[in-house]
Amino acid sequence: MPKAARVTGWGKYLPSRVVTNHELEDTLDTTDEWIRTRTGIKERRLAASHETTSSMATMAASQALASAGMEPQDLDLVLVATCTPEHLLPASASVVQNALGARRAAAFDLNAACSGFVYALATAYQFIAAGNFENILVVGSEIYSRILNWKDRSTSILFGDGAGAVLLQAQDGEPGLLSFILGSDGSRANLLYVPGPAGATEAGRNGFYLSMKGAEVFKFAVKAMCQASRKAVEAANLSLSDIELVIPHQANYRISQAAAHSLGIPLERFFSNVERYGNTSSASIPIALCEALEEGRVRPGDHLLMVGFGGGLSWGALVWKW
Ligand code: COA
Repeated sequence: MPKAARVTGWGKYLPSRVVTNHELEDTLDTTDEWIRTRTGIKERRLAASHETTSSMATMAASQALASAGMEPQDLDLVLVATCTPEHLLPASASVVQNALGARRAAAFDLNAACSGFVYALATAYQFIAAGNFENILVVGSEIYSRILNWKDRSTSILFGDGAGAVLLQAQDGEPGLLSFILGSDGSRANLLYVPGPAGATEAGRNGFYLSMKGAEVFKFAVKAMCQASRKAVEAANLSLSDIELVIPHQANYRISQAAAHSLGIPLERFFSNVERYGNTSSASIPIALCEALEEGRVRPGDHLLMVGFGGGLSWGALVWKW
């Protein structure tokens, strides 16, 4: 009989530096009004020069451990979802494992772009369900400020830096994860990509900057969110009206609005903090989950739908019984 797992701790880290839309008006041909009306974003956080993906991940992870009262040496695995690691190797997860003092833990990174946290949570759950591990830290951490072309107004206004973490623990009783759907369409990778140092030709010309076809990504995002959400809810033997709270990837408030409309779920059930942080990629869902918990919006027994989409193209949705 597979073991069940629950989320017993959570934490987040946002760099202290706030960059408002008005501040971006000084360096870009843009306006606060344009950014707010097209995206819902008012401000974002940007990491200081000494901060890294793993330093932010470590802050969020420490908070998650403390909130559960767990010692780092009891961890079996540290899993970091990121597509902006500070090294190609070692993995950010190894840096976090060392910083925490999680001596017994295995560690690896997972890159599924902005779907990364949903992929990572589903992956971590399998280790527990199979009886291999009991205590797993699942972290999403991103530092997009270092892969943005700050002269490109169509991309740089959208993203921010930050990290979120959950502690997953084996427990008897009902499973937390009721279902998950993961998907990928690599044929449309060119809609959203960042060259890497190992494929240096293009990067040599343009730098390691994010390129995006915004309007096409928007259409993909709405469709992927709706399809993955419907499938995950159906696989959990529930209907959309059973979902108390949707925690969507925070990319653009209009994407959530369109998905809510198409799914027939009231927009009030979609958690949103994109106005304060912008798109923090694989960190956005765990940060949003933390804030939903802090705000008392999650009660025991609630059905949460977490849904992500992004580069790959990739998507993922899961239903979690809290
Ligand atoms: N400020 C002012 N004008 C801007 C601008 C900015 N920051 N960025 C783009 N524009 C301009 C464009 O140049 C274009 O001008 P043109 O009509 O003269 O060519 C105009 O605004 C409209 O651009 P368009 O792309 O049609 O706007 P949009 O309503 O589709 O919004 C996005 C653009 C990027 C906000 C929107 O497409 C989006 O959010 N896409 C999804 C992106 C995303 O979430 N990516 C990550 C997924 S994980």
